Amino acid sequence: MVLTLKQKVVTSTIDEKEKLMSTVIEKRTSEVSVKGPEEFFNMPEEYQDLVIRQMMVHTEGELSGADDYIHIFYPMTNSAYEKKVCCERAEEEVDHYIKGAKVLSDIGIDTSYMLDQKLEERNLFATEAVQHIDNWAERALFSFLGEAAVLEMLFEMEQSSYLPIAQMCPSIIKEEKVHVAHGFRITREMCQTEDGKKEIQDALERWWPTTLDMFGKSESKRSSLYLKWGLRQYSNEEARERFIAITRPKLEELGLNIPDDLKNRKFL
Ligand SMILES: [Fe+2]
Ligand SMILES: [Fe+2]
Repeated sequence: MVLTLKQKVVTSTIDEKEKLMSTVIEKRTSEVSVKGPEEFFNMPEEYQDLVIRQMMVHTEGELSGADDYIHIFYPMTNSAYEKKVCCERAEEEVDHYIKGAKVLSDIGIDTSYMLDQKLEERNLFATEAVQHIDNWAERALFSFLGEAAVLEMLFEMEQSSYLPIAQMCPSIIKEEKVHVAHGFRITREMCQTEDGKKEIQDALERWWPTTLDMFGKSESKRSSLYLKWGLRQYSNEEARERFIAITRPKLEELGLNIPDDLKNRKFL
């Protein structure tokens, strides 16, 4: 197997480009290509285990997302519009679960047990921080930062060497972009008043480290295996650095003070 390296610079704004230019992060492309279940079963066990692990985490996370919107955010708001948004998001997250469950079921993995689990019983995709959300500023940052981190992971999965994963991603990405944009809108609106901005700033103290932790440990052995097999394009640390470079300017534009990247982190 030959891995080729390609330099990739995201250029969505001049600012982002400048920041990323100073820490050019290489995107890996892989020649591994596995078209479907039949070829999957001919791949080494290491590849099969990684695909299953990645998809189990992703699929469980989608279902937890639905629970977050229905059980945590829906009861928190007295806005009919925001309640409607919660229902729409939950419907989409369950649909994302269904799509992930199909990819896994096609390779003989049954995820239906996840439907019987309560949010706190799920342990593949860490949800502890979400369970403690009790104010609208944190709900805003859950989407603006947390779902944006998930979106970055989906962009990598869209390039997956296992084609059923790659094919699953575009429609999910389209909806997740809307989830993130809504989080940004709530954040921006709250930042218009002094009290709202303070609430967002307080929430950011908790959500910045939480979001950066979502990318996992920098020295993760599994992360390098994902790269080796073309199941991801960036290491955990590279993905985290990219996220920081893209997100920092957006927070700064709102006049927020971003906590130190290493403060209150659980995984380094
Ligand atoms: Fe989702
Ligand atoms: Fe989402």
